[in-house]
Order: sequence, then structure tokens, then C-alpha cells
Amino acid sequence: MGNQVVVFIAVVLIWTSFSCSDPAPAKKLIPEEEKQIQNMARSYFLPLSEVDFSDYSNDEKSKVLLGKKMFYDKKFSKNQTQNCASCHDMERFGQDNLRVSPGDSGVPGVRNVPTVLNAHLQFAQFWDAHEPSVEEQAPGPIFGTVEMGMTDTLELLSRIASDPEYPPLFEKAFPEADTLITLENIKQAIGAFERTLNTPGRFDDYLNGDLDALSYEEKKGIKSFIDQGCIPCHSGVLLGGNMIQEFAIFGYYWDYTGSEHLDKGVYKDSKKDKDMFFFKVPGLRNVAETHPYFHDGSIESLEESIRIMGLSELNAQLLDEDVQLISAFLQSLTGEIPDHAFENGTFPFE
Ligand code: HEC
Ligand code: HEC
Repeated sequence: MGNQVVVFIAVVLIWTSFSCSDPAPAKKLIPEEEKQIQNMARSYFLPLSEVDFSDYSNDEKSKVLLGKKMFYDKKFSKNQTQNCASCHDMERFGQDNLRVSPGDSGVPGVRNVPTVLNAHLQFAQFWDAHEPSVEEQAPGPIFGTVEMGMTDTLELLSRIASDPEYPPLFEKAFPEADTLITLENIKQAIGAFERTLNTPGRFDDYLNGDLDALSYEEKKGIKSFIDQGCIPCHSGVLLGGNMIQEFAIFGYYWDYTGSEHLDKGVYKDSKKDKDMFFFKVPGLRNVAETHPYFHDGSIESLEESIRIMGLSELNAQLLDEDVQLISAFLQSLTGEIPDHAFENGTFPFE
């Protein structure tokens, strides 16, 4: 009896030590496919780099610091209940993981919060691309009734001027300006901060030549993403953010998303028929973290949004295997948020 137990334990030990020292080998691409996928990836996508502060003048650094202070300041909302980070939370990759978000008045809007991370690299801002840059975008939420709800520029400027911390910061950031505290300077400073929010990650290491930065599935996912036809809209440094496109090209988007609010997209402002149901193609960096998806946050799962894209943009029922591989690839697009983005984080030059 005792011997049997000893033999049993010995067998288990030998078995486990064998299985530990001999794990199933990680799947590897054959060399030709490895090369082919990397070449394709390099021709359609561009690596993202960290912002290089050694190029920044002292004025520019002061502008960035001022912009960050304003990004985190609740004085920018009517009832002083919200700052930009209330909806663009850095702990949540520059957005809030809500379908739609309540603003200063407590009443939610109808569009999902896009991330501010890497947003400055897009060709335009907002789901309907109606502002050309992060600078021009900034007054939108401050004076937006469903966002921060400030009613007039004078009230905003006098609130800021009466905070003793601000005037010296404006002076450092805009040494040449005749009038320091202006809406234009606020826009420039908030924009300057947003232009520091790049999130390079493993995918960039891969594009820069480190083939081991991505797994077998993630690389197969690149191939599937390209083969299935996602590239015409989702390419470049952000895998999107370069154009507006119709949602949906095939059918009506609400038949796929179950959306209750009918958002006409670019048409809403332009009133041109050709813009009906056109939306900005979002970039896909950090997309695994920025659920729920689409302009109204109607879809919670990344796999489901990939499936919908197949149907709505490509008239294709994607196979489960392709959905899984594309999802693995999109998850590899999660990057590193720089420390200085966080309220208590610091810039390398601080
Ligand atoms: C109440 C939530 C809320 C607050 C507060 C808020 N935003 Fe937003 N933000 C949104 C929503 C919703 C959108 C998308 C609106 C649309 O496309 O019509 C958006 C869009 C943006 C975009 C465009 C990103 C893109 O990819 O198109 C930027 C940049 C941005 N906000 C910056 C800011 C800044 C800077 C502040 C503070 C001054 C701020 N936001 C305050 C909800 C908010
Ligand atoms: C014809 C252009 C086009 C093609 C092709 C296309 N997309 Fe999109 N994609 C869009 C547009 C436009 C949106 C935004 C739709 C909306 O929310 O109104 C979008 C949104 C998405 C989103 C949601 C992102 C977010 O932050 O909400 C994902 C994920 C996505 N696409 C993945 C894919 C994948 C994977 C493919 C290939 C199977 C693909 N797309 C093909 C235009 C396209």
C-alpha cells in the first residue's frame, strides 16, 4: 500500500516535470509567410512614435503644461462639476466606457465619447469630422449643452483670470501675446497638451522590425484584416482617422446595431444628400479598451463590431475564425499611455 503511493507520486512527479520542461511549442509562421505579412503590414500601416520633447521650445513646454492644467480643471464647466477628463479618463484610455455620457447638466448626449489618445493625428475631429484640429475642437465641449454647458466666452475668461494661478502660466506660454487670457490661447494650449498624447506599443515594435513583438494569432490577424478588405478605410498610422465613410454601405446601420436614435452623421450639419449616414472612420489604436463601439456606443463586444463591419461595409459574413484572428490583431493595438497624460503624472522635462 505504502509502496503504491510512493510509485504513484513518483509517476506524477516525472509526468509533471516532463510536461513542464516540454511545453507545446509556440506556433510559428513559416519564413515566407512571416516576411509576406510583415511586408504587407509595413505597406499599409505606419509606426507611431513617442512625442520627442527635445524638439520643444520653452514656450511650447509651458503651453503644454497650461493645457494639461485646463484639461483637468472643473472651472471649465458651468456648474464646475466636470473637466475634460470626466469623459476622457486616462485610466480608461482617454474615454469613459459608457454608451453615452451625462454632461454638466446631467443629461446624456447621443454620441459615444471617442478617445483623446492619438486623436490629434486624425484628419478631423468629431464623429462627423466637423472640426479640422484638436485646437478648433476644444471650444465644442466647453460650450456644448450636453457637455460642459458654459454659456458665454466672457464668463469663462473671467473665471480663469480670477484664479491667481492662471495669469503667470499664460504669460510663460504666450510671451508675445498682447492679450493673454483669450479663447484662442485656451484652444492653443489644450491642443498642445492633446498633441502629446501618443501611445506607441507592441504593434509599433513589430512594424519597426521586431518580429517577436506579436504572436502567431496576431500576425495571422493582420493577414485576415487585409484579406477581408478592412484596409481601404482602416490604414495609416491610426488604422483609420483619414476619411468619412457611409455606415452602412450595405443595408442600414440600425438593423445591425439596434440603434434607437437615428443619427444622420455628416448630413446633420452639411444637409447635403451625399453625406447622409457618413461618419468619420475611427482609428483603431487601443480599440480593445475603448468599448462600447460605433458613434452611439451601441455595441459592447469587439467581435460583434468586427462582424457588423463585415456585413455593413463589405457585404460579407465573416467566418468565426477570421473574426477571432482580427480580434486578436486589434487587441495587439493597445499601446502605452505616457505618464504625463495622467493628472498626477509628470512630463520628462518637469
Ligand atoms: C460630457 C462628456 C465630455 C466632456 C466633459 C468632454 N468631452 Fe470631448 N467628447 C465627448 C463626446 C461625446 C465627443 C464626440 C462628439 C461628437 O463626435 O459629436 C467628444 C469628442 C472629443 C474630441 C474628438 C475626438 C475624435 O476622435 O473625434 C476631442 C479631441 C475631445 N472631445 C476633447 C475634449 C476636451 C479637450 C474637453 C475639455 C475641454 C472635452 N473633450 C470634454 C464628450 C465629452
Ligand atoms: C468602407 C469603409 C470601411 C470598411 C471597409 C471597414 N470599416 Fe470599420 N468603420 C468604418 C466606419 C465609417 C466606422 C464608424 C461607424 C460609426 O460608428 O458610425 C467604422 C468603425 C469600426 C469599428 C468600431 C471602432 C470604434 O471605436 O467604435 C471597428 C472595430 C471597425 N470599424 C473594424 C473594421 C474591420 C475589422 C473591418 C474589416 C472587416 C472594417 N472595419 C472595415 C468604415 C469601414
